[in-house]
Amino acid sequence: MTIKNICCIGAGYVGGPTMSVIAQKCPNIKVTVVDINEDRIAAWNHKDLSRLPVYEPGLDKVVEEARGRNLFFSTEVDKAINDADMIFISVNTPTKTYGKGKGMAADLKYIELCARQIARVAKQDKIVVEKSTLPVRTASAIKSILENTGNGVQFQILSNPEFLAEGTAVQDLLHPDRVLIGGDTTQEGQKAIQALVDIYANWIPNERILTTNVWSSELSKLTANAFLAQRVSSINAMSVICENTGADINEVSKAIGMDSRIGPKFLKASVGFGGSCFQKDILNLVYIAKTYGLDEVADYWEQVVLMNDYQKNRFSDNIVSTLYNTVSGKKITFFGWAFKKDTNDTRESAAIKVADNLLSEKANLSVYDPKVTEERIYADLDYLNSRSEEENRKLLKVQNNPYNAIKNSHAIAILTEWDEFKTYDWQKIYDNMHKPAFIFDGRGILDTKALSKIGFICYKIGSATTV
Ligand SMILES: NC(=O)c1ccc[n+]([C@@H]2O[C@H](COP(=O)([O-])OP(=O)(O)OC[C@H]3O[C@@H](n4cnc5c(N)ncnc54)[C@H](O)[C@@H]3O)[C@@H](O)[C@H]2O)c1
Repeated sequence: MTIKNICCIGAGYVGGPTMSVIAQKCPNIKVTVVDINEDRIAAWNHKDLSRLPVYEPGLDKVVEEARGRNLFFSTEVDKAINDADMIFISVNTPTKTYGKGKGMAADLKYIELCARQIARVAKQDKIVVEKSTLPVRTASAIKSILENTGNGVQFQILSNPEFLAEGTAVQDLLHPDRVLIGGDTTQEGQKAIQALVDIYANWIPNERILTTNVWSSELSKLTANAFLAQRVSSINAMSVICENTGADINEVSKAIGMDSRIGPKFLKASVGFGGSCFQKDILNLVYIAKTYGLDEVADYWEQVVLMNDYQKNRFSDNIVSTLYNTVSGKKITFFGWAFKKDTNDTRESAAIKVADNLLSEKANLSVYDPKVTEERIYADLDYLNSRSEEENRKLLKVQNNPYNAIKNSHAIAILTEWDEFKTYDWQKIYDNMHKPAFIFDGRGILDTKALSKIGFICYKIGSATTV
């Protein structure tokens, strides 16, 4: 079975970059990415590549090469579904905000809508690929919807979860640690798996393409995110102990990371993990465990999220207590709003919670982020409903220049690890702040020794000394 025409439903942070790379590497396959969000599709089609809706290093070049050749972005969902041999579903699967499982279970309404649309539109056999992260056994629900259309079309469902990390999406897609494909053990299922293997084999070595049954594939994605988030919460838990004992978290990370059983990656203490996936996927796992009556398992994983909340709250608490127990009317500048560097994605960013806490203490915030728009920052805050939209705009100002942002600040908080923050003229910044001038480095990226020589009072996560 040779695939000639791919459709991807969902032109977001996963669908856009993933399909761009597939199109770049497979010039003989026509790839159409569709979305109901017209603005998003218009942005993907924008002549000016700096206006693409997703910022990822190197993505503009990939899009430039393939767009208009064999990569297309469109709002004509039905047509793209009908034309395709293989359909990727890459829509959002947020945490449910209503009804049973509220605040925990994955909301599968967008997935189900896609399945129903495919069932309605498809006239020939199709392979449907789950690219979204889904609870284990979702494929059976999709299958049931697709098979009950009565129009005789045959569907094969594959699970092909995406492991890219935002900020390094293009490199992760070009050189993945592994590609995981789950499918049915039947002959037809194996043929569908092979069709997808053949696509990835255009640029990924065979030994990195792993095939499993559907349920293992679905569960592996949730497991991977749970393990990664757990590592962050584990090192963050140790960072508090460091601050209380005089140990230094960077020294501890280095010491344990040299143990080959532990390894050095993902051991950086911080103000907490963010991003659209970790929290949602762990909560989803917790919900699955609960539905099977596995309360101990559920409690074990839930603690990873609780620890993360604690880390964000204690960061803002520390700012308040260090600034003499009141930040009311004081100006605090945030460097960074994105949940990590090299992305414009702010979903579940630690900055949002820290800002909300400080605004509740009546601080005045000034925010500078190299890639996040003012509109996005206000939308993130307004979504919390903690105060009126007018008040958010009155108390928080977004700046597009770091040196303007810090003028007359009492403190600076580093919320995202953007490289450019390390290169600033910190003497100039110090000179333009109120004294004593405080820095709260929530990402451990600044040279606090050099900063304290200038005169700053520095707090670094996981380090006991306030120099
Ligand atoms: N963002 C990541 O780093 C990442 C990594 C791996 C996996 N995932 C998973 O991938 C999935 C997508 O994540 P994302 O970050 O790309 O989400 P996103 O919100 O950026 O994009 C999803 C897109 O799907 C569109 N959509 C929703 N329903 C639709 C429909 N019926 N028809 C057409 N378009 C529709 C939305 O308009 C939106 O543009 C999620 O399940 C997520 O958990 C995300």
